[in-house]
Amino acid sequence: MTFARVAGVGSFLPPNRVSNADLVDRGVDTNDEWIVTRTGIRARHLAEAGQTSSELAFEASRRALDMAGATADDIDLIIVATSTPDFVFPSTACLLQAKLGNKGAVAFDVQAVCSGFVYALTIAEKFIRSGSHKKALVVGAEVFSRILDWNDRGTCVLFGDGAGAVVLEASERPGLLATALHADGAHHGILSVPGNLCGGKVIGDPFLRMDGQAVFKFAVRVLADVAHECCELAKLAPAAIDWLIPHQANIRIIEATAKKMGLPMEKVVVTVDQHGNTSAASVPLALDAAVRDGRIRRGQKVMLEGVGGGFTWGAVLLEF
Ligand code: ACO
Repeated sequence: MTFARVAGVGSFLPPNRVSNADLVDRGVDTNDEWIVTRTGIRARHLAEAGQTSSELAFEASRRALDMAGATADDIDLIIVATSTPDFVFPSTACLLQAKLGNKGAVAFDVQAVCSGFVYALTIAEKFIRSGSHKKALVVGAEVFSRILDWNDRGTCVLFGDGAGAVVLEASERPGLLATALHADGAHHGILSVPGNLCGGKVIGDPFLRMDGQAVFKFAVRVLADVAHECCELAKLAPAAIDWLIPHQANIRIIEATAKKMGLPMEKVVVTVDQHGNTSAASVPLALDAAVRDGRIRRGQKVMLEGVGGGFTWGAVLLEF
């Protein structure tokens, strides 16, 4: 039986680290206490002007390829999850492919906002298990700072920039054990960037808009539901999960999800305090952090979870 197994992970954060106090210094009408109490966020990294998602993706990919002992030429599938692509087209995956010097791999973007990485990993698994592809590069990369309204303190303090990558390869050893993806477009109004390009102009609103309380309630409900669904598919009790890596949006959402899963916070990887919400990059950034600091070890069971605009949500249960 062919499994899709994680061969390497990598991530990259732009060097510019911006604390809550730095935001106040920049003129945002907020304070550290409000942000920490409501969200758990203490800092985020912001890309320099002109630094693109494909550039962040390239750095994260190089690290993941190194850990996998692979070169760009070995990759036959590239999927980039992003809502902040470099261009309308071509895809950020094709731009990343050119930067890596890979030729001929299938390359495309996935747009599922903060669930994007979990969507992309699930798609890559299906390519690999079908036998058509052997080694995939799956990336979540975002420059959300570009779509924030810096005069809207209810949203601009929440997000950051970054990228995370995974090399997923065909293996006879277990890897991804179960996946579950969902969407319900009826909820598109509670989190969106409701603008587009037309005739050389932005039509509508180019900034992220959110009903925070509606998003909060929705996220807590579906993250717990989809994690349970994934456990049932894999015939594994939630207590057997070694590490839970939920989308890093807000510490209160993460804590509520862990509680509903019956998991102690010691089993939850948290990076939202240092990264903020990096949308599609949040899960692979957290995965990479916990692999590189030695918490996640080979053979352990890891649950990845995403939820985001659309609304979209999903989970991947894997044996690392
Ligand atoms: N600093 C200081 N005060 C603020 C700030 C800020 N940055 N933002 C809002 N406030 C004020 C408001 O103006 C309001 O003041 P008022 O009572 O005088 O009118 C007060 O704080 C309460 O505002 P609410 O929006 O009601 O605050 P709430 O308790 O709902 O917290 C938050 C807002 C943190 C966004 C919360 O709703 C939340 O965590 N929602 C989840 C959303 C989320 O995490 N989204 C991430 C993207 S979605 C995703 O990734 C799935």
